[in-house]
Amino acid sequence: MKSPIGVFDSGLGGLTVLRALRARLPAEDFLYFADTRFLPYGDRPEAFLKERGLVIAEALAARGAKALVIACNTATAAAAEAIRAATDLPVVALEPGVKPAAALTRRGIIGVLATTRTLESERFRRLVDNHAHHVRVLARACPGLAEAIEAHGPGSEQVAGHLDVFVTPLTAAGADVVVLGCTHYPWVAQAIAARLPADVRIVDTGEAVARQLERLLAAGQLLGGGGGRLAVATSGAPATVRETVIRLWGEPLPVEFWEI
Ligand code: DGL
Repeated sequence: MKSPIGVFDSGLGGLTVLRALRARLPAEDFLYFADTRFLPYGDRPEAFLKERGLVIAEALAARGAKALVIACNTATAAAAEAIRAATDLPVVALEPGVKPAAALTRRGIIGVLATTRTLESERFRRLVDNHAHHVRVLARACPGLAEAIEAHGPGSEQVAGHLDVFVTPLTAAGADVVVLGCTHYPWVAQAIAARLPADVRIVDTGEAVARQLERLLAAGQLLGGGGGRLAVATSGAPATVRETVIRLWGEPLPVEFWEI
């Protein structure tokens, strides 16, 4: 594969971002790394995630990536600055869509669903201070949800149980915009919407990330040259990842093991 774009996440949540990247940039190749050996990231210490982010960025660069997308809010919060400092490649990082949500809310109350680590990060605090100081932010950590989506699937009773606990109270609290602040959550966007009044807006950042990647590639004269190829690698068990890919992505993809 010639100069792909390297994309990574703790697991297969980043495929929700990849879907948007491929829709916008069909003439690119993508190399996706799922760090499933260390899933979930959401409960791990920041120092560990920073180290892991650096190792993965280096591995993707070593395999010829021309740009990097950190398709994980948790990894962005912990490692984006360190990765940017360590590489010359263009880096696109994700953060919860607090800014668009603060612009959309009419009632002045937004819900943010994300991992514990994301919500406790300095980066998230700054995001809220800079863009949502005038609204009420109901930040809801969802421990266990990303793992349940991967292990049991979006329609499972385990996922439903988590959503009942994490999402349903946002309605009583009056949120009229809900941010999917973890890349796993778009896999259950419908189930989340079903637990909220019909007029509640749900904010996902996939398309904004794709536009940002396109801008960076264009600025670096790196656009195009691929053929829509997609390769997947994991630090965990490829057979398990292949099964999860079928459940979430809807079609099989070859998955190889990387010892990193
Ligand atoms: N998909 C990740 C995110 O966007 C993290 C899920 C996890 O591993 O806890 O935050």
